[in-house]
Order: sequence, then C-alpha cells, then structure tokens
Amino acid sequence: MRAPPLPYALGMALPTPKDNTTAVITGASSGIGAEIARELTRRGHGVTLVARREDRLIALADELSGAHRVRAEVIAADLTDADSRAELPVQLQERGLTPDILVNNAGFTTMGPVHRAERAAELALVRTNVEAVVDLCTLFVPGMVTRHRGAVLNTASTAAFQPLPGQAGYGASKAFVLSYSRALGAELRGKGVTVTTLCPGPVETGFAEAAGMTDDEAGEALPKIMWLPAADVARAAVDGLDAGRAVVIPGAANRAAASLAHLAPKSWILPLMVRRHPALTQNPT
Ligand SMILES: NC(=O)c1ccc[n+]([C@@H]2O[C@H](COP(=O)([O-])OP(=O)(O)OC[C@H]3O[C@@H](n4cnc5c(N)ncnc54)[C@H](OP(=O)(O)O)[C@@H]3O)[C@@H](O)[C@H]2O)c1
Repeated sequence: MRAPPLPYALGMALPTPKDNTTAVITGASSGIGAEIARELTRRGHGVTLVARREDRLIALADELSGAHRVRAEVIAADLTDADSRAELPVQLQERGLTPDILVNNAGFTTMGPVHRAERAAELALVRTNVEAVVDLCTLFVPGMVTRHRGAVLNTASTAAFQPLPGQAGYGASKAFVLSYSRALGAELRGKGVTVTTLCPGPVETGFAEAAGMTDDEAGEALPKIMWLPAADVARAAVDGLDAGRAVVIPGAANRAAASLAHLAPKSWILPLMVRRHPALTQNPT
C-alpha cells in the first residue's frame, strides 16, 4: 500500500515559512482574522492583511512586523467587488510574494426575517461570505496545487450545522462554506494542499456590533459557556490547520451543540429557534 503524502502522515500541513511566502488573511482588520494574523506571525509566517478599513490593517501590520520580525503588508479591498478580488494575486506577484496560506475569514451577518430584509445587505452578505470564498479559492488554489504546497483555512460557523431562522442568509452562507471546503479538501487530498474549515460558536469580536446588536443583546442570546475569546479561537484554528484537520469547532460546549443541532430533527429544532432568536422575538410582525 502506498504511504499517504507527507503533510498528512506527519500532521504538519502548514508550509514552512520562507522570505517570499505569505499568508493572505481576509477580514484581518478585527476579531478572529486579526488574531489569526497574530497567531501565524508568532509561528514565523509573513502575512498579507486584507479588509476595507485600511487604518486598522496598517496598525496591525506595524504591530506584527515589530513584534515578530516578519513581513506584514496591507491590501485594502472590498471583497464584494470582483475586480478588487482579481487584483489580489496581481498585487502579490508584483511584490514577489507566493501565497502559501489562504485564510478566507471576512464575513458578516444580517439580522431579522427574510420578509423584512434589505436587498442590498443580503446581496453583500452572499458576495462576502460565499462569492469571495469561492473566488479566492479559485484564484489561489491552482498555484498551490502546481507547487504541491499550500493550506487553506475557511471560516464558517456552528451556524453551518442547521438552518438559522432570523439569520437565514447567514446560516445558509456558512453551510455553503462548510460543504464547499469539505469537498475542496477531498479533491486536494494527495496534492500537497490541505483545507480546514473553522466553525466557531459565539466569539467576542466586532461581529455583533456590525450586525447592529449591542454586546448585552448578543451575550443574552446564547449561554455564557459557549462564548470564547477571539485569540483562543484563532489558536485552535491554526493548530487545526497545522494538523491538516478538515473541521475545527473550538470549545467543548460548541462541539456538543453543533452535533446536537446537526442530528436533531429539523421539524423540532426550527420552531424552537424561531421562538428564541432575539431578531424574531423582539419585533415579531
Ligand atoms: N463572532 C462570532 O460570534 C462568529 C461566530 C462564528 C463565525 N464567525 C465568523 O468569523 C469571521 C470573522 O468575524 P469576526 O467575528 O471576527 O467579526 P468582525 O470583528 O466583525 O470581523 C469581520 C471582518 O470581516 C471584514 N469584512 C466584512 N465585510 C468585508 C468586505 N466587504 N470586504 C472586506 N472585508 C470585509 C471586516 O473588515 P472591514 O470592515 O474592515 O472590511 C472584518 O475584518 C466571519 O466570517 C464570521 O462570520 C464569527
């Protein structure tokens, strides 16, 4: 029997950093993405930080290159825009950088029932959470396969394991990311490129605020035991990426809740979720 390729056999899927290699991290201007950037630079990887808020990216790049003596550069881009996404590999090539690691982490949620949704916000969600993930994998993975060297980390959510009334588009977008990433990982087995899906439960970041919720409202929606700091989630994600794991769900409570939600009959769990989701209960019309 032929031995599996080395990265799987040794559990070391993260490519060894070189002077000209980089980890492209989207959604690096705050929360989980910023912490993944900190975690990767701590392990010696140069990083390319991508998001819209350039000032935050520059501050983080300064922090990381000062603390860890690694390269950190910034590309300000709106990932809903296909032309801006197409520019990313071009800009890396101009800087002489090879993307060995791709972290598709940018994302946001809308809140409320579909019959009161704003069309522009829903489309922006699909473009950011779904279209950009597919596009950046399509842009970056072929080069990784050619080099027989690469690791992809896509951020989904525990929302991927069941439909999510009150955040229907968001839950579906994360189910897409999980399904797509698992399929991609299976296709790439033996090709020197691994794919890991990060499925966090609730995390203390700017996510709730970006969705128009206060920290108190967000904190009340799910039990305290499920909430984790972004740094812990990032460490679990990068450990999982390094181990070549297909799916990472940080925290025992979140792993249990994800299994339960996945296995429970949807006819039972969905009405319960409708009764409990703050975006549906606070304004039920
Ligand atoms: N926090 C949670 O409870 C939780 C739970 C499960 C999964 N997640 C997932 O984790 C990921 C990171 O979220 P987070 O919790 O760290 O929230 P966050 O602090 O709000 O970070 C979201 C990041 O996405 C970026 N982003 C959003 N829209 C973008 C766009 N159009 N173009 C480029 N970048 C964009 C934001 O940057 P700019 O605004 O600067 O563009 C920001 O860096 C998301 O995919 C989210 O769905 C979060």
